Amino acid sequence: MITVLVTGGAGFIGSNFVRWAHDTHQDWHITTLDKLTYAGRLENLEAVMHSPRHTFVKGDIADAAVAAPLVQDADIVVHFAAETHVDRSIQSAADFLTTDVIGTFVLLEAARQAPRLRRFVQISTDEVYGSVPTGHSVETDELRPRNPYSASKAGADRLAYSYWATYNVPVVITRASNNYGPNQFPEKVIPLFITNAIDGVPLPLYGDGLNVRDWLHVDDHCRGIDVVIDHGVNGEVYNIGGGNEVKNVDLTHRILELMGRPQTLIRPVADRPGHDRRYALDTRKLQGLGWAPTVPFDAGLAATVRWYTDHESWWRPIKDQDAAFKAYYAAQYGNRAKA
Ligand code: NAD
Ligand code: DAU
Repeated sequence: MITVLVTGGAGFIGSNFVRWAHDTHQDWHITTLDKLTYAGRLENLEAVMHSPRHTFVKGDIADAAVAAPLVQDADIVVHFAAETHVDRSIQSAADFLTTDVIGTFVLLEAARQAPRLRRFVQISTDEVYGSVPTGHSVETDELRPRNPYSASKAGADRLAYSYWATYNVPVVITRASNNYGPNQFPEKVIPLFITNAIDGVPLPLYGDGLNVRDWLHVDDHCRGIDVVIDHGVNGEVYNIGGGNEVKNVDLTHRILELMGRPQTLIRPVADRPGHDRRYALDTRKLQGLGWAPTVPFDAGLAATVRWYTDHESWWRPIKDQDAAFKAYYAAQYGNRAKA
């Protein structure tokens, strides 16, 4: 058996990866290490919870007593765990530094003493490149993060690289674009807008709505990570992008059209401070390893709308009953002046 440690496996991408990898790799034993923050949900792992090839450990990646033995027992580490929401990092950055930077440092230190480790996949993000007005980011571009989340991720990205360059830890780094699909926490724009539209509540569109994101279906992201595990070169960076550049205002129109809801639900609100205008990735390096995105954006978005419509029991308690989410929502949107 190949022992695989997945950090942050109860979150959005992590849980999609754990479920996908569990079904795809019959010779993997997967251990999920997750702190179960507000974004981590055990129900995301229901499908594998009773499998003999999956173990769940509740714990903090920044706690070496829990994390180090798991890293030292692994053949492969896929490190997703992070604080991930830009707006929350603008409200308060402390947890981003503790988890995204210090937590990554704890895992990398443990990886130095891991006898069988052959891959440490650092899950980074296209946000580390900063805003890209024209063209597409290539892996060798300078990093220009512009918000506390992306700055923390850039720190972790380069720290991971330094452990390859300095200590020969078998690090590969992936930088993905905006993911969408099932089980995404309803603070991120697509699930927030779908669930608000179901409830007939306004969709708060930041600024002029002309910011561009490159949408990647989470299944294509999982396959991209798998290709990097098998064929990536240690010390290298691989962009993973969907090639679906969409302006936020067009995305919002599409969601409302798919749902048969009126465009009058769109509520322009004050912009996000430091809002990156555009992200766009050049993915030729990963395509050279045999990967290509397969999910057309329209079909993927329609399937995502269906998932949230069919899984109200997953998101309704978060939006209607979770006091912490309600407090976050009020702080983020309550007094947001009209754009
Ligand atoms: P998410 O917020 O849905 O999930 C994060 C998970 O990490 C949760 O299960 C949470 O409980 C766990 N976690 C947080 N702090 C922890 C800690 N200290 N110890 C252990 N577990 C902890 O995030 P996501 O959107 O699935 O993102 C996963 C990774 O992918 C992150 O590293 C993120 O930076 C990266 N990424 C995300 C996107 C995207 O569009 N969502 C795009 C590119 C890269
Ligand atoms: O690009 C990869 C990144 O994508 C990941 O690294 C992050 O973890 C992930 O959260 C995501 O970051 P974004 O900030 O791009 O995602 P978000 O869903 O928060 O916002 C997407 C766009 O929608 C962005 O331009 C801001 C806008 N937006 C967002 C929210 C929540 C709105 O207009 N209104 C909103 O209420």
